[in-house]
Amino acid sequence: MAGVKITWLGHSAFLFEAEKKLLIDPFISGNPLAPCSPEELNPDIIAVTHGHRDHLGDTIEIGKRTGCRIITIHEVANYIKSKGVFAEGMGKGGTVNVEGIKLTMTDALHSSSIDASGFSFDGGSPAGFIIRINGHSIYHAGDTGIFGDMQLISELYEPELALLPIGDKFTMGIKEATKAVELIRPRIVIPMHYSTFDVIKQDPEEFKRAVEAKVDTKIIIMKPGESIKL
Ligand code: NI
Ligand code: MN
Repeated sequence: MAGVKITWLGHSAFLFEAEKKLLIDPFISGNPLAPCSPEELNPDIIAVTHGHRDHLGDTIEIGKRTGCRIITIHEVANYIKSKGVFAEGMGKGGTVNVEGIKLTMTDALHSSSIDASGFSFDGGSPAGFIIRINGHSIYHAGDTGIFGDMQLISELYEPELALLPIGDKFTMGIKEATKAVELIRPRIVIPMHYSTFDVIKQDPEEFKRAVEAKVDTKIIIMKPGESIKL
């Protein structure tokens, strides 16, 4: 099976590199822990899980500079287009093949809006993605609470790697994310969306211990800028 290199850019931002480069949720310039600047990123595709600032991030700027394809839910795509950058909308449960990478949009239990000063634009509803790249299946859960259909997502797409939020307050915390791993049963989990800011401070070692006491899934704790290969 051909390889894929996965780099955590902090928070929920990941870069997947095979023949083509896919960037998800590029929140870089506002992230105090970001390992690079948005100008250093040259993806072929950007996928955005929802409209919140810490996910939409630098999408519009990177899209404008690189001309990359942008995939997100219909309402967020419309917002991006209103800023003069083309984006392709899709809906939950659907799959698109973009430059040989298959993206399936999954549900997420959260909210979505695009915040301006004093009001919000409609961000549709929040999502996650199943990414099938070079023979590998990966689940990026987006911002979400736990939900039972994670098991259905797992049955359908059999992800070997799941990227799960553990920061609590806005998403699952350690207790819920541990149960999510039991529902999904991937080979590997990388925790995300924690300790970027004090309000989502979390000890990933506690998550690792909780999961590894229950199932044989391996938890990989990364530092922003680090990579793994599948
Ligand atoms: Ni959010
Ligand atoms: Mn978030």
